[in-house]
Amino acid sequence: MASANIFLVGMMGAGKTTLGRALAQRLGREFVDSDRELVERTGVSVATIFEIEGEEGFRRRESTLLAELARQEGSVIATGGGVVLDEANRRLMHETGTVVYLRARLESLWERTRHDASRPLLATADPRARLAQLLEAREPLYRECAHVTVDTGSQATSTLVSRVLAALREYETAAGSDR
Ligand code: S3P
Repeated sequence: MASANIFLVGMMGAGKTTLGRALAQRLGREFVDSDRELVERTGVSVATIFEIEGEEGFRRRESTLLAELARQEGSVIATGGGVVLDEANRRLMHETGTVVYLRARLESLWERTRHDASRPLLATADPRARLAQLLEAREPLYRECAHVTVDTGSQATSTLVSRVLAALREYETAAGSDR
């Protein structure tokens, strides 16, 4: 039997892509990065999709891709930070896979995004304040959707992979004893 997908959720700069790639490698699973997949399929950057179709158009594409990815099993999937805004996306991930929330403090999110111009939502006069706003609004959504929450900071990727694996094992043991 194929195993359920592992969905990584969390804010921009939480390290979903880096962790996801390493986790997939450790588990011998396929890794999919949702944003990268959208960029490959459309042939343009996320910023350009936002520019041409607005955030609404981007979200539509993101949800369609998520539904497609959820139909296959066994992958580690790094989602975009805003995927949880849609209730149907949250339900789909929660019901079809195991959802890991990579939780990070504002300071570390800011450190990891401040020199990166690829995120259209942070292209504002005060990107740090915007990041804080987004974190506050989304934190409850990440929590609602996740089976497991792992705090991230400045630790090495391999350490984080081990912590995520331990958290997943703990969750699976607890879920198994509830059945
Ligand atoms: C977004 C996060 C980005 C990307 C887009 C919107 C968001 O992905 O999907 O810029 O709404 O938080 P990352 O979380 O991989 O940066």
